[in-house]
Amino acid sequence: MDHQHLAPIGRTAAGALLAIGFLAAGSADALPLHPCLEAGASCSLREIATAAGVRIGAAAQPANLSEPLYAETLAREFNSITAENQMKWPEIHPAEANYDFAPADALVAFAQANDMTMRGHTLLWANPLRIPAWVSAAPDAETLRAWLENHIETVVTRYAGTVDSWDVINEPLQNFSSDLYDNVFLDLLGEDYIAEAFHIAHAADPTAELFLNEVLVEEPNARFDAFYDLVAGLVADGVPIHGVGLQGHIVAGIIQPGGIGLREVIEAFADLGLVVEITEFDVTMSANGPAALEIQAGIYAELLSACLDLAACRGITFWGFTDAHTWINGTFGPGRVPLPFDEEYLPKPAYDAARQALLGRLAAVPELNGLALAAMIAFAVAAGARRRR
Ligand code: G3I
Repeated sequence: MDHQHLAPIGRTAAGALLAIGFLAAGSADALPLHPCLEAGASCSLREIATAAGVRIGAAAQPANLSEPLYAETLAREFNSITAENQMKWPEIHPAEANYDFAPADALVAFAQANDMTMRGHTLLWANPLRIPAWVSAAPDAETLRAWLENHIETVVTRYAGTVDSWDVINEPLQNFSSDLYDNVFLDLLGEDYIAEAFHIAHAADPTAELFLNEVLVEEPNARFDAFYDLVAGLVADGVPIHGVGLQGHIVAGIIQPGGIGLREVIEAFADLGLVVEITEFDVTMSANGPAALEIQAGIYAELLSACLDLAACRGITFWGFTDAHTWINGTFGPGRVPLPFDEEYLPKPAYDAARQALLGRLAAVPELNGLALAAMIAFAVAAGARRRR
């Protein structure tokens, strides 16, 4: 598994020793830049993100792994995978006594073989259309609670060690609304079903980071306010929530939050002590062609750098990675080209924009930016001297 999550103190201590050595050589300029930051470097998204200690991920489907270019690109460019559908309740647990792990296991095996981590998506999608009919037919709260506990404990326990974070609840709010979805869990267990799901997941794998994942809350608005209040309530109640997933499904010119608004949203959740990840990023265009792809690259650059410029932003996951395999084709029709690689797996201007945003994050890592680290060390030495007086 990549040491992308090397404990910050370990990284900083190692960097400090390195810097002291080079400072002893009399010049902070002697500190080496990371090779990916050097002119002409051709590092992949994965190499840059891993060096910067952030996730760069893509949603994947096991059926596509048999395509050589699909598998090669996925392993080369990303350090994380999300199962696009195979870990969802309807797919993995289609009947009370029947689990179908094989499709999800295929993605887990690929991740393990390629030293990748995984985001678990999702233990419970609140949209009643995404809840299996057998679950929605629960006769009473006691039965439903037992089913919820069994489902979460079974799935989280199985993938502990490869899945390092879970979307415990996906999309708690109704689309284009500030209200919770009305589903069997809300009806029989009340709003606390959300907190209960987090507690069950945390008990099943205390090492996993637990996320609430939502769409259309990437800028300040009434829906964001309702979502923020829901999250803040969970934090205040001591629920084991560690992060928020902002899906980031962008439709150019139609659903297009700006970088300033995204930054405000991320900082609001950071102030609650949470990490934030963009979990399903894609930018749907109304046309293809060079001009459209440049506009798309500008949106990638604005939003991905707005996130990655903030320490609380811990990762970016694209919802797919090639225009050859995107849910958008089936939903809005072909030719909407939302992803960083085209249908021939060639990088687009959007890829270059994502790469530049990641390089910006890497350049901000203190160990790799000698002046910042030199200042840190000077401060620490001075503080130590003061303490000894
Ligand atoms: O695999 C079956 C196939 O056997 C069958 O012939 C075909 C026609 O019925 O359906 C196939 O399953 C489809 C599945 O995608 C695999 O392609 C489902 O019908 C279809 O509903 C499902 O759509 C997925 C959707 O979530 C609903 O689960 C999309 O691929 C997936 O990209 C989309 O992802 C969601 C996130 O989970 C949550 N955020 C929004 C995002 C986009 O909607």
